[in-house]
Amino acid sequence: MKALITGITGFVGKHLESFLRDKADVYGTSRSNRSKNHIFEVDLLSETKVTRLIEEIKPTHIFHLAGLSNVKDSWKQKADFIQANVIGTIHLLEAVRKVDNKIKVMTVGSSEEYGRIQGELDKVIEETALHPVSPYGISKCAVSMLVSLYHRSYGLNVVHARPFNHIGPGQRLGFVTSDFAYQIALINKGRIDDPILRIGNLKTARDFTDVRDIVEAYYNIACFGIAGEAYNVCTGQGVYIQDILEKFLSYSNKKIELVVDPSKIRVAEVPKLVGGPEKLYKLTGWKPKRKLDDTLKDIYDYWINN
Ligand code: GDD
Repeated sequence: MKALITGITGFVGKHLESFLRDKADVYGTSRSNRSKNHIFEVDLLSETKVTRLIEEIKPTHIFHLAGLSNVKDSWKQKADFIQANVIGTIHLLEAVRKVDNKIKVMTVGSSEEYGRIQGELDKVIEETALHPVSPYGISKCAVSMLVSLYHRSYGLNVVHARPFNHIGPGQRLGFVTSDFAYQIALINKGRIDDPILRIGNLKTARDFTDVRDIVEAYYNIACFGIAGEAYNVCTGQGVYIQDILEKFLSYSNKKIELVVDPSKIRVAEVPKLVGGPEKLYKLTGWKPKRKLDDTLKDIYDYWINN
């Protein structure tokens, strides 16, 4: 495998790079950071630059990770999210179409594509109708529709991963597990005087997978995924944010006061997002290996040490 990872310096990109180290020649793009020889400074908003890069590298597989991923931020930066996620993907798919439409491309979507679930559905599967409720969800829906379009119309060898929440050490602030663990770690390190933890909505439920399992799923999807298809990447287990918070609080040696921060409450959000992982399991045998409690502890330890 000769792999090109767009967004290689991001949270998932770094984990994917280390997973692929003994399986592939790895190259990557980054918008700003060209610290190593195999990383190219390319913004996907330039179709010309992406095309030249693909001509030069001639990858067999592309993992398209670049894009904006913070659901809450998407309410403030609607146009930026459409630019980065939708226009960026169009440029990449156009480049592949022109250079070599046999390159296997894996795009990354999101469970946010499903959005508002109709009826009493317990778990969303790939056939569940898409009703996004955030600008970010809309941008990722567009990506999944582009995958179908480029496959049907141009025969592109492109598959779509639909990951649910992925977490782990090194994820930046702005995502719930990092936000909680960071603040609790700061309090325990004695770095802030008031032991106050600012929280958002604790009543939602999400399906959490360790990023190190997610990148293994991406590898399987890129190798075995059927062109034009989408695959959920998830555990099938829903966890309330309240329970995540309680787990982190159990690591604390100090008593902590909880304060709801109105700026963390979203204009709209999905109360419960749990996925059915069976389609990917049937195709590849992929299952998450890590336990949620171990991942949460790793995240807490990361913030204690950083
Ligand atoms: N970020 C954050 N910070 N969320 C909080 C907080 C807080 O302090 N307190 C409560 N929440 C709630 C949010 O309101 C949401 O219901 C839930 O925790 C998860 O929030 P995020 O971690 O920001 O994730 P997300 O579900 O909105 O989106 C993530 O998962 C998607 C896949 O399901 C992101 O990683 C997306 O990029 C990804 O596609």
